[in-house]
Amino acid sequence: MMRIALGRSPKSGGVTLLVSVVILGALIMSSGAGTLAAAQATPAAGATPAAAASITSEPFGDVEGQSVDLYTLTNANGMEVKIMTYGGIVQSINVPDRDGQMANVALGFATLEEYVAGNPYFGCIVGRYGNRIARGTFSLDGKTYRLALNNGENTLHGGEKGFDKFVWGATQVPDIQNGVALKLSRVSPDGEENYPGTMMVDVTYTLTNTNELQIDYHATTDKATIVNLTNHTYFNLAGEGSGTVANQQLQLNASNYTPVDETLIPTGEIAPVAGTPFDFTTATAIGDRIRDGSSEQITFGRGYDHNFVLDRPSPDDTSMIVAGTVTDPESGRTMEIRTTEPGIQFYSGNFLDGTITGPSGKVYRQGDAFALETQHYPDSPNQPNFPTTVLQPDQEYTSTTVYAFSTS
Ligand code: BGC
Repeated sequence: MMRIALGRSPKSGGVTLLVSVVILGALIMSSGAGTLAAAQATPAAGATPAAAASITSEPFGDVEGQSVDLYTLTNANGMEVKIMTYGGIVQSINVPDRDGQMANVALGFATLEEYVAGNPYFGCIVGRYGNRIARGTFSLDGKTYRLALNNGENTLHGGEKGFDKFVWGATQVPDIQNGVALKLSRVSPDGEENYPGTMMVDVTYTLTNTNELQIDYHATTDKATIVNLTNHTYFNLAGEGSGTVANQQLQLNASNYTPVDETLIPTGEIAPVAGTPFDFTTATAIGDRIRDGSSEQITFGRGYDHNFVLDRPSPDDTSMIVAGTVTDPESGRTMEIRTTEPGIQFYSGNFLDGTITGPSGKVYRQGDAFALETQHYPDSPNQPNFPTTVLQPDQEYTSTTVYAFSTS
């Protein structure tokens, strides 16, 4: 009998439908600047909407002869998210503080050239496999696969050319009741980066009129493969370029985490956070314990770079749960994260080293942002006690994450 894995359910005639969507998408893909459509806007409770939600697009340059578009999603409250077809990268997220002052809370660059020249996965879709695979090796159905070693002796975020470095097809999703949505699609060929199976992938970004950025991931394959998709936005709720996130308060509904070795590969242990710097079960400033030299795990990560095991009623549960909340006490900006995934990688921007200048002209230094990447656990293909990341041809991979913004 087929075992249905977390976030992997039996397929329902999905391939044909998906192919049609991709072809249709390619046909109606916008070229050049312009407003695609104004979506129907539903006023947020208690808010006076300024305008209908909309999506516009503009050319953003070329990569290897392919043109890249930058889409601007604006909701009825004026919250704005910019997403480019290169890597599905979220370039900016403009949200109000408690006084209504807007700031861009996502790190990034002003130009495409800077993204292409090399960047630490700012805002992108990560795939096929988010985070690390030990020594770039895994076995499936008796066959061993070897991936590019692009992070010391391990594979990180898909390999040399992961999903973050391709130009995706884009279409606006019609008839969204409470906002606007952009669907990005690509076909990842059999053998890309040495992963087996042709994978049809789409990622839909929805901006709601209640200030939520929802990301829906969907994939199918024609051969057994592995998949672990996430988004790699670096957040600073005080605004990108405003300095350290040390005072921003993080709360995670995670009683356990997966400790790592010195190369950041999980040891296989599911360890309680209680009594360690990893206990964020109650809201704690990110910087409070980040220099705790008595924790080997903190020194391995150069701060936080760990997968947290989200508290769920059962290991097979894939319902949407609140993973956690981050609040910036100064601006009052708050972000709640909800997800169907079993884990979340909390990365405290440890490798930002002052060599990158953001769009506001400020240099990014260590700890100037955090990422909260919803995911299956790192190195799952080599860890039998972790939830599986195998996707079979008769299954559909689905995953949903919401970043919900408000003020306090
Ligand atoms: C990883 C970090 C890495 C960062 C940027 C995170 O998901 O866990 O180790 O430096 O992504 O690539």
